[in-house]
Amino acid sequence: MHAPTKFALGLLAAAAVATASDVIQLKKDTFDDFVKTNDIVLAEFFAPWCGHCKALAPEYEEAATTLKEKNIKLAKIDCTEESELCQQHGVEGYPTLKVFRGLDTVSPYKGQRKAGAITSYMIKQSLPSVSVLTKDNIEEFKKADKVVIVAYFDATDKAANETFSKVADKLRDEYPFGASSDVALAEAEGVTAPAIVLYKDFDEGKAVFTEKFDAEAIEKFAKTASTPLIGEVGPDTYAGYMSAGIPLAYIFAETPEERKELSEALKPIAESQRGVINFATIDAKAFGAHAGNLNLKTDKFPAFAIQETTKNQKFPFDQEKEITVESIQKFVDDFVGGKVEPSIKSEPIPETQEGPVTVVVAKSYNDIVLDDTKDVLIEFYAPWCGHCKALAPKYDELATLYANSEFKDKVVIAKVDATLNDVPDEIQGFPTIKLYAAGAKDKPVEYSGSRTVEDLIKFISENGKYKAAPSDEAEESVAASAESGSSTETGTVEEPAKETSHDEL
Ligand SMILES: *[C@@H]1O[C@H](CO)[C@@H](O)[C@H](O)[C@H]1NC(C)=O
Repeated sequence: MHAPTKFALGLLAAAAVATASDVIQLKKDTFDDFVKTNDIVLAEFFAPWCGHCKALAPEYEEAATTLKEKNIKLAKIDCTEESELCQQHGVEGYPTLKVFRGLDTVSPYKGQRKAGAITSYMIKQSLPSVSVLTKDNIEEFKKADKVVIVAYFDATDKAANETFSKVADKLRDEYPFGASSDVALAEAEGVTAPAIVLYKDFDEGKAVFTEKFDAEAIEKFAKTASTPLIGEVGPDTYAGYMSAGIPLAYIFAETPEERKELSEALKPIAESQRGVINFATIDAKAFGAHAGNLNLKTDKFPAFAIQETTKNQKFPFDQEKEITVESIQKFVDDFVGGKVEPSIKSEPIPETQEGPVTVVVAKSYNDIVLDDTKDVLIEFYAPWCGHCKALAPKYDELATLYANSEFKDKVVIAKVDATLNDVPDEIQGFPTIKLYAAGAKDKPVEYSGSRTVEDLIKFISENGKYKAAPSDEAEESVAASAESGSSTETGTVEEPAKETSHDEL
């Protein structure tokens, strides 16, 4: 009699332990309040089927328990249930981890996904983001990193202090921030408070901000002043250049000597375009393949090209011409004046369409994808992408279903090899699938569901103009294929940068 009771109690206790979690699960109606009422929250956006999320779960639990006493909260959001909330926070893959300091100051979690790493990262994040500086520590602070940012303001200037702290909270992972209210220090620096000085170990050594303290203006200053006049494109800097919001001019050369020589020569041009075009050298030996992405030949260096980063347009400088100060000056001037046409890479337009899926190339993109009379589902793929290969038979089946249905003239199932064709879409990963609905070509809808025929049909019928879902007969065949075990764990994408040396960037 006793033994089973004890056993049952034991089970109950175990169950209680298993469910008592220090990770708070948030939903649409609890998220905002929770984030607002806690100073600092780490939030994990996950999906129950995602393998990396499962691996993270015990680590995350452990960190939550350790951090509880420091009043640092760990939360999780199930994106399969809270899709709106996840979309609102720009979640594109799982797991996505973000640090929230209120709703406005959000930064991606950049640490490892281990309990110890999460714990120490979050403790660091919870410390003040601005070091208070005095005459005893300021000189050392100035040399703490390649770029450091120091504000000088009056001890009573609460507004300046707050604005600066807000920027520091946001950019704390990028630069060390310091502040001083010592008038003598500001004087020694030759500035009048309130002012900000950005110290850098390159170019002119420092830059001064004397405008009104405004978070956005300070952020812009930090970004611009910390970017070297002629920097170097490499794995650490590539993403920054791509997100800078202005074009990037590449100077490709094979040796350090050549890069130095060319950047010295082109410096005046870079100077005159500061804030308009970023200039950077790139090691053509290591990253020569990236020249191909800019529609340059990959075997003829030095070379020069401009990339319009927001529209992803490429402007290669004619490799038959010599790179001189004069020739580049003219090219850059013409570019700024809108006189250079972007170069568009395209496969030839296929003479006939062989398979059920319509093959699109850059030259036929507008005619097919932007055909305003049709709902066009287009897959952007790369030949090397495994997820794309896994999708191919299902995608063929989808195309066949529509081709054999009453919607054959209204719905187009298409694909484009995005490594061989320049497309206007910004592609974050492969495959990317979008629906360009008839009558709404300016508002394509990106597909984020599981990659099954059934769900794709649902997506097309919900978002397309014609609400097109192939008839019952077609659906039966879909059901059959779903039963034959097509996996739904396909929400992940592969980075565009997997194969060429582009990925080293
Ligand atoms: C800014 O404000 C904080 C909090 O009130 C204070 O600790 C810090 O000393 C101030 N910074 C300066 C440089 O006066």
